[in-house]
Amino acid sequence: MPHDLPPLDVSIEPEKPEDQPAVDALIAESFGPEREKRTVYRFRDGRPPLGDLAFVARLKEATTGAEKLVASLNFWAVAGPEGPLPLLGPLAVLPALRGRGVGRALVAHGLSETKRLGWPAVLIVGDPGYYAPFGFSVGPVAGLELPGPVGPLTFMGLEFEVGALTGLVGSVRPAPRIDPPID
Ligand SMILES: CC(C)(COP(=O)(O)OP(=O)(O)OC[C@H]1O[C@@H](n2cnc3c(N)ncnc32)[C@H](O)[C@@H]1OP(=O)(O)O)[C@@H](O)C(=O)NCCC(=O)NCCS
Repeated sequence: MPHDLPPLDVSIEPEKPEDQPAVDALIAESFGPEREKRTVYRFRDGRPPLGDLAFVARLKEATTGAEKLVASLNFWAVAGPEGPLPLLGPLAVLPALRGRGVGRALVAHGLSETKRLGWPAVLIVGDPGYYAPFGFSVGPVAGLELPGPVGPLTFMGLEFEVGALTGLVGSVRPAPRIDPPID
């Protein structure tokens, strides 16, 4: 990872419907076909992400001034023992632009929006080395169980309201599917 490059000055914005193909391509490139076997995929399969917690980072190309989508962050709702909770991810940054602060900027923005929208806590399956600096840890989710293994990653939580996760005991399950309206 290059350490001599300056942080990238990206603009972080809500994801728009027309961003979907670029977001899908970025996630496929970043996580590969094996992503659909991960436990977190069960939470996403057939369910839309949380629409007000979907963000992209765009970078203005110096020569043309055109904006390019370079990173994406989504959250999914999952069913906790006492109600829905947001699960952070997937987070993906264009490979050529990694290590320049874009991922951290997106996570910081996403967490601040999650809190602003009134969610009391956030869950994640991720690398503690990356997410602990944001306040994620295993302690708050000690009583919660996921429907499958997550190794080598770690299941963690971050509370915005003290006690929002600590003390919860039970399973974290996929959120109920929302059936499309019948015409
Ligand atoms: C993980 C990812 C989103 C990070 O984005 P990024 O823009 O490169 O991250 P930032 O520039 O904000 O931060 C880079 C720092 O995070 C560290 N880092 C990157 N991935 C890490 C990981 N999995 N675990 C621990 N640290 C990690 C880098 O070593 C770097 O540390 P440094 O600042 O001390 O040099 C990006 O590498 C990516 O898209 N990876 C593929 C998809 C993925 O694994 N997503 C995360 C799922 S939990």
